[in-house]
Amino acid sequence: MKGVVLAGGLGTRLYPLTLAVNKHLLPVGREPMIYNPIRKLVESGIDDILIVTSSQHMGDIVTLLGSGKDLACSLTYKVQDEAKGIADALRLAEGFAHNEKIVVILGDNVTTASIAPYVQAFQEQEKGARVLLKHVHDPSRYGVAALDERQILEIQEKPTLPKSNFAVIGYYMFDKRVFDIIRSIEPSARGEYEITSVNNTYIRDQELCYDILDGDWVDAGTFESLAYANEMFSGVSHD
Ligand code: DAU
Repeated sequence: MKGVVLAGGLGTRLYPLTLAVNKHLLPVGREPMIYNPIRKLVESGIDDILIVTSSQHMGDIVTLLGSGKDLACSLTYKVQDEAKGIADALRLAEGFAHNEKIVVILGDNVTTASIAPYVQAFQEQEKGARVLLKHVHDPSRYGVAALDERQILEIQEKPTLPKSNFAVIGYYMFDKRVFDIIRSIEPSARGEYEITSVNNTYIRDQELCYDILDGDWVDAGTFESLAYANEMFSGVSHD
C-alpha cells in the first residue's frame, strides 16, 4: 500500500500566516504540521509516500523533507498547478499509485492517535474505500456523514443543516478505482473537485466502510484549530 499527503490549497483561512508560508509548514508542537500525517503513514507501515503541493511552495517543502530519510520514508513529489480541490490534487497520484491501494491524508489533519488499526482493516478489505469519522461539535465545517446503524447513507459537504455530528475527517483509503471515479465527478458549486463526491460514489456502489477514530484529532486549518493543535502537542517530543 502507498501513501499520499495533500499539501496544496491556498490556506486562506489562515491569512496572513499563509501568504508566504505553506500552511503545512506552520508549527504544531515542536514540528512542522506536515510531519504528523507523514508519521501516521510510517507508523502504519507505509513508507512510500507522495506529497502534492503547489508550485509556489514546492521548493520549501522539498527543502524541509528532502528524500524523506529523516522520517524513515521515501518521498515523491507532484505539483498541483491550481487549487481546484482535494479530488483534483489526488488525481495526480494515479501514476504513483500504480494500481495499488492508497491511504490519503489531508496535510492539515493532525492526530495523537494511531491510524494503524484502520489501515490494517483496509488492507483486509476486499475492495472499495474506507473513511474515518469523528464526533464534532461544529459539523457544518466538515463533510458530514448521515448514518443508520450499519452504514453511511450519504456525505454532505459543509451542510448548513447537518444530519449528524459525525465529521468525515481527512484520512481516506481507496482502491485503484478512485481515479476512474475522480474522472467521473463534476466540480461543486464552489468550483472544486470534492473528495465528498468521490466518497458518495463509493456509497452509491455500497463500497464505503468506516471507522470512528479513537483519539484526539484536529483539522488545523483555522486560527482556533491551529491553536488547539498546538495545545494537543505541547510537551510531545519525538526525540
Ligand atoms: O479536515 C476534514 C475536512 O477536510 C473534511 O471533513 C471535508 O470533507 C474536506 O472537504 C476538507 O475540508 P476543508 O475545507 O478543511 O478542506 P481544505 O480546503 O482546507 O483542504 C484540506 C487539505 O487538502 C489542505 O490542507 C491541502 C489539501 N488541498 C486542498 C485543496 C482545496 C490540496 O492539496 N489541494 C487543493 O486544491
